[in-house]
Amino acid sequence: MDGQTTSEKAILKLDGQEVELPVITGSEGEKGIDISTLRKTSGYITLDPGYVNTGMTRSSICFINGEEGILRYRGYPIEQLAANSNFVETSYLLIHGELPNPEEYERFRQSLRHHSMIHEDMRHFYEGFPSSAHPMAILSAMVLGLSTFYTENDDPEQDDNIDLTVCRLLSKVRTLAAFSFKKSIGQPFVYPDNSLSYCGNFLHMMFRVPAEPYHVDPEVERALNLLLILHADHEQNCSTATVRMAGSAMTNLYACIAAGITALWGSRHGGANQAVLEQLAIIHENDGDVSRFVKLAKDKNSSVRLMGFGHRVYKNYDPRAKIIKEACDRLLDHLGVQDPLLEIARKLEEVALNDSYFIDRNLYPNVDFYSGIMYRAIGIPNDMFTVMFALGRLPGWIAHWTEMRQDPDDRIHRPRQIYTGARLRDYPV
Ligand code: ACO
Repeated sequence: MDGQTTSEKAILKLDGQEVELPVITGSEGEKGIDISTLRKTSGYITLDPGYVNTGMTRSSICFINGEEGILRYRGYPIEQLAANSNFVETSYLLIHGELPNPEEYERFRQSLRHHSMIHEDMRHFYEGFPSSAHPMAILSAMVLGLSTFYTENDDPEQDDNIDLTVCRLLSKVRTLAAFSFKKSIGQPFVYPDNSLSYCGNFLHMMFRVPAEPYHVDPEVERALNLLLILHADHEQNCSTATVRMAGSAMTNLYACIAAGITALWGSRHGGANQAVLEQLAIIHENDGDVSRFVKLAKDKNSSVRLMGFGHRVYKNYDPRAKIIKEACDRLLDHLGVQDPLLEIARKLEEVALNDSYFIDRNLYPNVDFYSGIMYRAIGIPNDMFTVMFALGRLPGWIAHWTEMRQDPDDRIHRPRQIYTGARLRDYPV
């Protein structure tokens, strides 16, 4: 994983002194200036609000080229994984670095099956939440709750069975998510059925009711696998950086994942998938007038943004959005769903892609733009969309936490600041 130091040097001139900084290069040729000794040698720090130019780590998990719209997990193009892999295999790839051989795959799958239930005492936690509670709040709290049952992970340095913790998390978060949904609609919890696949079991826990049989639709199962694979990692995004930040303090994996879920909840990040559908519904209620909405999104005096548009890294079409758009058509066709919101989304995309405001700022649809329409067709309600994102992103968070634990350069994450407050003054006596 190591970014190689090149013979190139960056020279910084400060107060008449010259500071020489090493330049490092990654395996795909991206370059970075290593400023790790800058403050020690010069007394200066760098200021980079939003970390737009700041590399926080070397990482070998995920590669993105935002200008060309490229996304790869461990070197494999997202398009190939989406077409040929499943979520369990992709999770293994992200966490362990290589695709599993048949025995490794079977062992991993069995372990995920084995750990699908949650402790009965945890089931009672749900009774304490109001029925109006947002499922992301419940999920974050419940994942943190796992750490109270599996205390061997309290000290990450002492946890010599991290594979067990990883499988517990991957399997139980799915159960916790499905139970959150059941709680929100007042239906009884449905226990996992370990004869089903990872995604099939999730659909079973979500949609089965004790009074009726439920059969997993293989097309829906396939669509869910695809959505989870597409969300599985995205290098140093806000929630992953949060997981790493919390983990750098030697916080246990459950607590770090709970922190990641909280960061993902926000509407600038994973919460955008819920916001997209809410926006489309508003447009639908207003006679489907897309251009009025686009005008509002361009108006600097309004706080409206076109949700599901724009990305910090992609300055081109998000490759995941391309795959989801096609899969969305296929799924809705299969289910015979005519969703007026899909029509509005298509119109909105067309108008925005031909508008100079969006062209000049490289604002394209992102992964969240069409995913909500697929979730809706499957029967998953708006406020569960971000939970679905969390379920998908889980292997990525775990992979980053694990990578950080194994990195010999790992230190507590502690950014600096430029202080702009009051200067020294005396307390009035
Ligand atoms: N609608 C309208 N204008 C936008 C949008 C949008 N969705 N996104 C960015 N812009 C404009 C900004 O107003 C700004 O314009 P200006 O240069 O005239 O001031 C310019 O484009 C650059 O935007 P920034 O906010 O500086 O870009 P940043 O990289 O900080 O933000 C973000 C990226 C948060 C994703 C932003 O595009 C956004 O808010 N999008 C909508 C929310 C969304 O879809 N989030 C999901 C992202 S994907 C994910 O997390 C899984």
